[in-house]
Amino acid sequence: MLLRVDSDRMRADFDALAEIGATPDGGIARTTFSDAHVAARAWFQERAREAGLETHVDSAANHSAVLPARDPGARTLMLGSHLDSVPQGGRYDGALGVLGALEVIRAVKDADLDLPVALEAIDFTDEEGTLIGTFGSYALAGQLSPSLLAAPRGGRERLVAEFERMGLTEDGVLAASRDPATLAGYLELHIEQGPALERSGIDIGIVTGIVGSSSFRLVFEGDARHAGTTPMDARRDAAVGAAAFVLGVRETVTCDFPGCVATVGDIATEPGSFNVVPGRATLRMECRSPDAAELDALEQALVELAHEVTGEFGLDLTVERVGRFEPAPTDERVRSALTNAALALGLTTMELPSGAGHDAQALAAITPSGMVLVPSVGGISHAPTEHTAWEDCVNGTNVLLGATVALASDAGEHVVPVRHP
Ligand code: HGY
Ligand code: MN
Ligand code: MN
Repeated sequence: MLLRVDSDRMRADFDALAEIGATPDGGIARTTFSDAHVAARAWFQERAREAGLETHVDSAANHSAVLPARDPGARTLMLGSHLDSVPQGGRYDGALGVLGALEVIRAVKDADLDLPVALEAIDFTDEEGTLIGTFGSYALAGQLSPSLLAAPRGGRERLVAEFERMGLTEDGVLAASRDPATLAGYLELHIEQGPALERSGIDIGIVTGIVGSSSFRLVFEGDARHAGTTPMDARRDAAVGAAAFVLGVRETVTCDFPGCVATVGDIATEPGSFNVVPGRATLRMECRSPDAAELDALEQALVELAHEVTGEFGLDLTVERVGRFEPAPTDERVRSALTNAALALGLTTMELPSGAGHDAQALAAITPSGMVLVPSVGGISHAPTEHTAWEDCVNGTNVLLGATVALASDAGEHVVPVRHP
C-alpha cells in the first residue's frame, strides 16, 4: 500500500505559514532576516518539535528538523527549500518545499518506518538573494568563498549589518559546510514558476538540470545638468545610456542567445528630480543559461554592449559582477526515483530544465540531488498572484514521499516497519 501524506495537516500548516508575512494582495513579504522571515523559521521549527523531531540551526542560520535513524552513524537524506521570499512574492515559492519536506518526515514517522538513513527537512538561508543568493545552501555545500562575502549581490554594508544583527560571523558562515560523506542525497519539491507543465497538462515535472546565472551591477556616469538650459546635443545623460543598454540587452539575448534570458531588474537614476539631467544611472542586471560556457559568452557579450553604449552616449562606466551561480545537472538515480514515485501514484510526468535557480544547484555539487516540480497557474511566480492548485501540492508531496522512501531503502539497507510494543 502506497504511503501518503496527511493533506489536511499539511493544508492547515500551509495556510498558517502563509499568514506570516502576508501582504494585503494575497502575497508574501519575507525577505531574508525580516521579522516575518524570522517568525516563519521559528514557526517551522515549532511545528517540527510538536511532531517529535529534533531541530537545529547551523552557523549559516539554516534551520533543520531531523528524524534520526536508529544507527547514529547513518547518513542523512536531506529534503528542503527556503522560507525567505522576494520582496513582493507568492505563498508557494520555497514554502511548499519546506512544508512538503516536513510533512514527508512526519508521514514516515507516523508510519513507523525504520529507515536506514536519517531524514532532515531544511530551510536554507537567503535563497532569494536579499544578501547573496542561495547563501545557506552554498555555505552548507562548502561553496561560499570569502570573496563572495566581500562583494555580495545585496551589498557589503547590508551583509555586515544583517550578520551583526542576526549574530552571524563570516568565519561561522564559511565553516557551515557539511561533510558530503554524511549525506545520502538531496530532494527538493518546488513550484515550476513557469508555464510548461500547465501548457502540457502534465502533473509532475522532473528537473533535468538547473540554470546557471550571473548578476552584475553597472553604473553609467554622465553629467548632472539643468534640464531646462542644457541643449539636447550638449548632454551626457546617464538615463539615456541606461535605456539604450536595457533595450540592447533584450536585442542581444533574443538574437544571439535564444536559450538564455537576461533581466535588468532595477534602474536607479541620480539625482532623481524632474529638472536635472541624470548624472548617474545604477542598474542591477542578471543573465541565465543552462550551460556554463554559454553563460561565460553571454556575460562577455553584455559587458561589451555596456561599453559600446557608453561610447555612443559619451558616458563613463563601471561594471562589477556580483554573483555567479553555476548550472547544475540533477542526479539520474534521483530523477528515476522521483519519476517512479509519480508513476506509482498514477501521475503524468515530463522532464524539463529549471529556468529558476534553486538550493538544489548548490547541493548538487556535493550529493546526488533532484527536484520535483508542480504546475504554476499561468506560469506566474515572484508575484502575489502566484498560485498552485492544492491537489498539485499534495501530488508533489506524495511524489517526494515515495522517492524519499525508495532512495532510503536504496541506501543499501531494507526498510522495515517497526511495530512499537
Ligand atoms: O531567482 C530565482 O531563480 C530563484 O527564484 N531564486
Ligand atoms: Mn524564488
Ligand atoms: Mn524558490
